[in-house]
Amino acid sequence: MAETLAVQASPMDWTWPVVGRLFEARRDLLNTLQTLERRYGPVFQTRVPGVRVVAALSPDANALVLRNKGDVVSSRQGWSQFIDHVFPGAIMTADGDDHRRQRRIMQAAFRTDALRDYVARLTPIITARIATWADRDLLAYDALKRLTLEVATDVFVRPARSRNVGGRLNRAFIDAVEASISLVRINLWPLPFAKGRRGAATLRRHFRRMLPDKRRHPGDDLFSQLALARTDDGEAFTDTEVIQHLAFLMMAAHDTSTSTLTSLIYLLGKHPDQQRRLRAAALQVDVDEPLRFDTLDGMTALEHTIQEALRLYPPLPVMPRVAIKPFDLHGYRFTPGTLLGVSPLFTHYDPRLWTQPLRFDPDRFAPERAEHLGHRYQWVPFGGGPHLCIGRRFAMLEIKATLHELLRRYRWTLPGDYTMPYQLIPIAKPRDGLPIRFCSLE
Ligand code: HEM
Repeated sequence: MAETLAVQASPMDWTWPVVGRLFEARRDLLNTLQTLERRYGPVFQTRVPGVRVVAALSPDANALVLRNKGDVVSSRQGWSQFIDHVFPGAIMTADGDDHRRQRRIMQAAFRTDALRDYVARLTPIITARIATWADRDLLAYDALKRLTLEVATDVFVRPARSRNVGGRLNRAFIDAVEASISLVRINLWPLPFAKGRRGAATLRRHFRRMLPDKRRHPGDDLFSQLALARTDDGEAFTDTEVIQHLAFLMMAAHDTSTSTLTSLIYLLGKHPDQQRRLRAAALQVDVDEPLRFDTLDGMTALEHTIQEALRLYPPLPVMPRVAIKPFDLHGYRFTPGTLLGVSPLFTHYDPRLWTQPLRFDPDRFAPERAEHLGHRYQWVPFGGGPHLCIGRRFAMLEIKATLHELLRRYRWTLPGDYTMPYQLIPIAKPRDGLPIRFCSLE
């Protein structure tokens, strides 16, 4: 039997001491990971700014680390340096029993009947906003970012309209998001990081002021649902927990959905045949009826297209963890304190797992082929295990509703020689905003 080696004995990728692989990874993360994996195998050590990190690149690595049987890794220690300063108390930075408790309570705000209510709120917002995009030049990413923010403010918070609280919340929120993705973390006004921390504090202040009313007169928004949320044993969130979770949920929902929608506009702009096919299905849906949860839930061709976009452009290309108990993976023993990263991006493009991984091919997700089920952890855009994205069903519904509305009203194309310049770090988005024109069908 092969001997198990300490992870410190895994191949070392000698690179720049301070910045490590940052610049290459920013330029082309996929190529960097693929090249290093070919050179060293699925487990190797490399550097990202300031720290040494062990890359664990395989579906088995995804399974072991994300499932986290026996609580061998900490999500808190992996994520807290990116999240804590702006969004303290985020559920992604909770571990073990504390995380299990929070997750049990939060789940109540994502049950099917709550999702039905959110859908009823979000479809009119999407329809009204998309109607303003007709026949003009836009940057798709910016337009979608405004749309998902509008949806989050209304569906998650539902501020009173009278005192322009919505406008102030939006500003505070935009600053907070900028800070959480800012690579320069200097808390000095007016640098984005300092502005963002202030924005996040403003958000929490607004939420604290609104909370007593949400508790007294709960509505069907996510804020009220978090305030009401109870497990069968009667466990509930404290005031501070409700506020912190709401702020983080807005953040978690915003850039990820924007990024996925942008990838979809790009992919369908480059593949007019697929766009036509989806439009034909969209035009079959009765326009006089408001779009409902069940209609959206049943749109399988759209679902496969979104799954494929998430495979090609996972908004979170890498997930960090720190080992807190020893465990073995690919012949190496990971010791407590080891910082490690698993990568959806890597397994999403692995030719050993997918046929022609570079091809946009939504049907690979159809039941007859179901390529993504070859290994349960080869397609992980929403993570897996205890920290599996709690908002994935909401995300799917929001993305479907938006895409359905776009397909029903407009056609769009992109020049044959255009390739979207794409950055994956710190957040997946097009560097040029993806210029686009949505042309009315009539
Ligand atoms: C396409 C859209 C989305 C993608 C690709 C996505 C991706 C992810 C991933 C990969 C994780 C796991 C991170 C890890 O384990 O380290 C995660 C967690 C999470 N996501 Fe999403 N997400 C999306 C949309 C949303 C939405 C719409 C919401 C809220 C409504 C949301 C809320 C959360 C929360 C709260 C967590 C942490 C869960 C926990 O720690 O237990 N996400 N998401």
